[in-house]
Amino acid sequence: MKTPPCSMHLAFALIIGFSLGLLLSAYRRVLPHCTCAYPSSISDSRPTSRSSVPLTEGDNSTKKVHYDAPSRGYIDIDEGTTNIDQLYKKLVIVTAFSQNHFKEAQGIIFTAQKTMPNKKIVVYDLGLEKDTKEEVKSYCNVELREFPFNMYPKFVSNLLVYSWKPIIINITLNEFGAIYWGDASVRFKKSLKELLPAAKRHHGYMALIHSFDPKVNSSIIHQYFYTHPEMFKFLNINRTRYYAEKNSSPHLTANRQLIINSSTVQSKIIQPLVECAMQLECISPEGSKKGEHRFDASALALIVYKNLKHEWTPENNSNDIFNEVIDIHRGNTNRYKPKQCRRKHQ
Ligand SMILES: *[C@@H]1O[C@H](CO)[C@@H](O)[C@H](O)[C@H]1NC(C)=O
Ligand SMILES: *[C@@H]1O[C@H](CO)[C@@H](O)[C@H](O)[C@H]1NC(C)=O
Ligand SMILES: *[C@@H]1O[C@H](CO)[C@@H](O)[C@H](O)[C@H]1NC(C)=O
Ligand SMILES: *[C@@H]1O[C@H](CO)[C@@H](O)[C@H](O)[C@H]1NC(C)=O
Ligand SMILES: *[C@@H]1O[C@H](CO)[C@@H](O)[C@H](O)[C@H]1NC(C)=O
Ligand SMILES: *[C@@H]1O[C@H](CO)[C@@H](O)[C@H](O)[C@H]1NC(C)=O
Repeated sequence: MKTPPCSMHLAFALIIGFSLGLLLSAYRRVLPHCTCAYPSSISDSRPTSRSSVPLTEGDNSTKKVHYDAPSRGYIDIDEGTTNIDQLYKKLVIVTAFSQNHFKEAQGIIFTAQKTMPNKKIVVYDLGLEKDTKEEVKSYCNVELREFPFNMYPKFVSNLLVYSWKPIIINITLNEFGAIYWGDASVRFKKSLKELLPAAKRHHGYMALIHSFDPKVNSSIIHQYFYTHPEMFKFLNINRTRYYAEKNSSPHLTANRQLIINSSTVQSKIIQPLVECAMQLECISPEGSKKGEHRFDASALALIVYKNLKHEWTPENNSNDIFNEVIDIHRGNTNRYKPKQCRRKHQ
């Protein structure tokens, strides 16, 4: 076997060296784009805390209107370090509606503006007409967001399954750390600040509790009678015992919930609720019908029974203060004209 002459080795070395040099310089030209894309996308996704933000971003109106941006960042109320003022600063009002609930929803926005003048209101668009979107965007303190239907299973788009509600609660709670969920029918009589001390005593969670026992008759019929038996099975709850146990089965309102982040609220309520909402067989078992089953509200009642039994009792609950702050008025009305801070774009 003949070895190649030295001159050939040299030629090879030169060719390889030259190509490497070309490759390196080409790579350097590409490199800056790669290194800066990554950190900037991270910092973009991190919400920064600002004392106020212009509501009129990208708008031409001369009047600059400000609302108090919520203070962001970690909170676990189980750690007991947050005071009421800090909590109130974090709190964001969250609602969602489709076109047929727009007039009704003007009431929650109007009364929120009135009782909590600088409080941020996040509205999820579940299907609004173009004009309505512009109208809602013009309201003071309101941020309108599209619901990300394309990120979820198809059944979520069926609004009558109500998965959207636990999903929105999960998204916004993790984003802001403290939210008040209100259906379009909610009316505020006083500031939500009044509720915070009571919520603090119960791991950050608060809803109105209509009753604690399916066997006790009240003007509002217990959730037990509006929950599909298959949902009990799915959540592994003995339905007979749920009915029989004394004062252990709170019927909570899903249409008005104050939720401050805590490890308890996350692990015992929100995560199980979202898990249920992501499975059609759980939130809407086969044969579920409006009027016989209450979807997200049924799931909430069963999950609280399962995971937080006796946290609230007929003697220890916050119904009185809750009723002082919040009312419900269903139906469309022209009574409420929310304050506008931004010119409508046509
Ligand atoms: C803002 O002003 C610019 C230039 O004057 C105009 O082209 C644009 O349409 C205006 N935008 C709105 C939302 O009014
Ligand atoms: C909510 O609490 C959980 C449990 O402590 C924590 O992991 C999470 O970061 C908290 N989220 C916010 C927004 O504070
Ligand atoms: C619930 O929130 C968590 C934390 O932000 C997120 O990772 C998860 O994807 C959310 N779940 C759903 C179903 O949106
Ligand atoms: C509740 O109402 C039902 C039917 O109206 C009645 O049969 C039952 O005795 C009542 N229970 C109590 C505890 O009053
Ligand atoms: C459900 O609970 C009832 C009453 O405690 C009991 O008799 C029954 O055996 C339980 N059913 C199951 C499937 O565990
Ligand atoms: C009500 O329950 C909470 C949570 O268990 C507890 O911290 C509080 O002391 C109770 N209040 C009364 C008056 O029993």
